[in-house]
Amino acid sequence: MSHKPTISELAAEESRRQNSVINLIASENFVSDEVKAVLGSDLTNKYAEGQPGWRYYGGVEIVDKIENRVKELAQKVFNTNYHVNVQPYSGSIANLAVYFGFLQPHDPIMGLELSHGGHLTHGHPVTISGKLYDRYAYFVNQKTGLLDYDQLESEANEVRPKLIISGASAYSREIDFKRISEIAHTVGALHLADISHISGLIATELHQSPFGHADFVMTTTHKILRGPRGAILFCKPEHAKKIDKAVFPGLQGGPHMNAIAAIGVALEEALLPAYKTYCQQVVANAQMLAELLTKKGINIVTGGTDNHLFLVDLRPQGITGAIAQQRLEEIGIIVNKNSIPYDDTPPQDPSGIRIGTCAITTKGITSQELEKLAEKIVSVLA
Ligand SMILES: Cc1ncc(COP(=O)(O)O)c(C=O)c1O
Repeated sequence: MSHKPTISELAAEESRRQNSVINLIASENFVSDEVKAVLGSDLTNKYAEGQPGWRYYGGVEIVDKIENRVKELAQKVFNTNYHVNVQPYSGSIANLAVYFGFLQPHDPIMGLELSHGGHLTHGHPVTISGKLYDRYAYFVNQKTGLLDYDQLESEANEVRPKLIISGASAYSREIDFKRISEIAHTVGALHLADISHISGLIATELHQSPFGHADFVMTTTHKILRGPRGAILFCKPEHAKKIDKAVFPGLQGGPHMNAIAAIGVALEEALLPAYKTYCQQVVANAQMLAELLTKKGINIVTGGTDNHLFLVDLRPQGITGAIAQQRLEEIGIIVNKNSIPYDDTPPQDPSGIRIGTCAITTKGITSQELEKLAEKIVSVLA
């Protein structure tokens, strides 16, 4: 009989895999040993439904201190006095908390089209956000690949949405959150800025901040923020009660105190000067890699990047994103296939790949190594 590996053996195997490949997945990163230690600590044993000072369980003195401190750290990292909830299990449910707290079924909402860089949870028809609410997509400009704020404004005037969601999973340029808030407020809508992908760039003031403009700001904690899986949901103080109620008891039960504490460790790390240097290097590496690929004849959507990621348009090479992903994996480079704006092929078989530099920058990739990486990528795409 063949030996079935234990889960611990498989987890060790996954660690070896992660350390043997070059990870260019834009939404992934490597957390510190300190984050891992707290994530795997005895905090996982504790139930603490409710909020600090207002729990349904005893024995919460220490977890109350932890959660209060994590909230303070979140405000400090993003330089904001917005109300903060650190309990959402992940980004999807944090977005849903905003919808659940502030919308009625069939209310009109607007989110960036998935194939133009938006996220599924921004109202895509296959998700609860698209089934429960009437989503109207907005788009990037066909010629430039850039967000078309004028189109968004005229569409918002027609649709009169209750909520506009900004933010993206595959958009490489800086986002004008202030403009989107102005558009939203002019038509009587609320604005949720989903900064999951770029929150580190906002925290370190490399990109425009939505704080002070958007009604809600949501970030996942496991991408550029280099924390455990989870999310932080901020809102203007007047929305605090509804947000807290939507998270618990609206959508969730007991908060994952080990994850919340580990988010705190990641936030402590994000306050160190080294984190700003890291974020600057993430962007510099993405820009350098995009430039190296462009010089070798590869077509980058929008011609470059302002952040940690970019999309490669593979149509000139005549291969699909799936083929590129597979060929790259065969030489130890991990990416994901991705739609490009105005793609002619379906999302299951898109014409592009997404490349991000958060993980390789954490690993300390050098510029010589980036040059070699660009050569290797081109050797299998061309
Ligand atoms: C912009 C954006 N929002 C929300 C999410 C959802 O987060 P999670 O996977 O933690 O549910 C993601 C994850 O890919 C994302 O990129």
